Amino acid sequence: MGLPGSGKTAVGRRLASRHGATFIDLDDEIERASGASVPEIFADEGEAGFRRRERAAVAALGPADAGSALRRVISPGGGAVVDPRNRWSLFRGRRVAWLDVRTEVIAQRLRRSPVARPLVQGPDPLGQVRALAAARERFYAAGIRINGVADLAGVLGQLEALLASPASGATALLHALTPIGEVVLGEGMAVDALDGALRRLRARRAVLVSEPGAWAAAGEGIASGLRGAGWAVEPLMLPPGEDAKRLAVIEDAARALARLRLERGEPLVAIGGGALGDPAGFLAATYARGVPWIQVPTTLVAQVDSSIGGKTAVDLPEGKNLLGAFHHPAAIVLDVALLRTLPERQLRAAMGEIVKMAALGDEALFAAVEADGAAIAHGDSAAFDGGAVAEVVERAAWAKIEVVIADEREQGGATGRVALNLGHTVAHAIEAVDGYATLMHGEAVAYGLRAATRVGTGIGVTPPERAERIERALDRLSLGVEPLPYPPEAVVAATGTDKKRAEGRLRWVLPTADGYVTRDDIPEPPVREVVAGVLAGRGGRAA
Ligand SMILES: NC(=O)c1ccc[n+]([C@@H]2O[C@H](COP(=O)([O-])OP(=O)(O)OC[C@H]3O[C@@H](n4cnc5c(N)ncnc54)[C@H](O)[C@@H]3O)[C@@H](O)[C@H]2O)c1
Repeated sequence: MGLPGSGKTAVGRRLASRHGATFIDLDDEIERASGASVPEIFADEGEAGFRRRERAAVAALGPADAGSALRRVISPGGGAVVDPRNRWSLFRGRRVAWLDVRTEVIAQRLRRSPVARPLVQGPDPLGQVRALAAARERFYAAGIRINGVADLAGVLGQLEALLASPASGATALLHALTPIGEVVLGEGMAVDALDGALRRLRARRAVLVSEPGAWAAAGEGIASGLRGAGWAVEPLMLPPGEDAKRLAVIEDAARALARLRLERGEPLVAIGGGALGDPAGFLAATYARGVPWIQVPTTLVAQVDSSIGGKTAVDLPEGKNLLGAFHHPAAIVLDVALLRTLPERQLRAAMGEIVKMAALGDEALFAAVEADGAAIAHGDSAAFDGGAVAEVVERAAWAKIEVVIADEREQGGATGRVALNLGHTVAHAIEAVDGYATLMHGEAVAYGLRAATRVGTGIGVTPPERAERIERALDRLSLGVEPLPYPPEAVVAATGTDKKRAEGRLRWVLPTADGYVTRDDIPEPPVREVVAGVLAGRGGRAA
């Protein structure tokens, strides 16, 4: 794969003929199936129509060929790998190579090319190529980088070396270098990704911070993989669940690091859900005034939410997350295979946060949640095997990454990270009244999201169709459906103590037709009515 003009066809043909394999140009397959040329399809059906045909052509390729002989060399169109499902189908079980060619060289080649390229026509081809390269690099970089500027023999030599190297069985789906750290996503690749990240951080050993549940489900396997790759492993166990988020635990853990003689610059690796990542990150933020850390989130909540954003914290008796620091991990390793052992309730609750991300205005995520959310919440193996989990994790995580990059330390006012608070005004209040005893956070967020949607409809910022769509998505996930036994007045009173305030006024995030607005002028009476309706369960809407 690579940009248009990176030489995929020329290189692919030669490689295939050397091995007696078949060369498949995906664009040719699409043209054959539709009886029209790519530019004609773009003209008649737009890019969306072309992408639909492209998805069908990728699916028609079927799974990777068995055995070690090279049977097919596949050249997907430059944009085919933008779609997470296409990457899932194309990359699993195959060797994936990225023909990396500088954008200036690409622009020059395209100027001379007799083939029409719909996405790079117009007055500023170099600008367009650069924009394409920036938008797609994280997808291409999941493959092994091949220097595509070398001559044909040089490129083929690199590909032969790749074919001769042992296959690990892991699948990398995305690799991004972002202002908030390296992000890698894939299936079964946690050990490979950690090995790479530890090397880049020049680690001497792998210090793994985990807790018993995540250790049994994921940590032990990762530790033995790392030992197999030659790393000395030092496990450091924190208590399970919210018990890890105590200052006394940080003191004990820091003393254990001191006994290991952990030095400045030596990274910690956090393996676990959000209740492990928060204190492990706080430990990394404060030990020796800050050491680098790598997150390997093992719950769905952690993969799409808590591992991203650099918020580390422990609780105090006076409040949750009161003591903490911003400390972004150097790398976030998102291995969706680790989620297979999660209990259904964990998966379902996480969908509450994911619907929230979709409702903020991510149309592709919304569509994926509508299509596959219920199967993911149920933990269906088909949702894992078919790539639905990987798609939703990628889209939801990336949506959060973009919000965080735009407002790293939550100073962006009404357009920044505050957006992530959609649904949280009432969710936090419900959790406080519940005493954090019975509801999972994502479950509370579902009630809160319904409340925000209904407040938005009440004051005319959330169109009824949008409100319907959000509520229907939650209905299908059975989230925010059961009545809750809390007095509405208590919940309304608790919204007053929510920390997300602007100059003493409660700031609401409300859905619009395709995004959100923030408002701090919502009067109490309609809120009371909405809260009562939400607490009454599904069907209990305020008039
Ligand atoms: N920092 C942030 O921005 C942020 C955002 C959201 C939530 N959080 C925090 O996250 C915490 C909740 O996180 P959580 O829901 O991940 O809870 P958690 O970390 O307690 O994990 C839930 C349970 O799942 C188990 N588990 C972990 N990985 C598993 C796996 N792969 N298979 C089977 N079981 C596994 C754990 O042992 C635990 O029992 C809260 O403390 C919350 O404050 C932080």
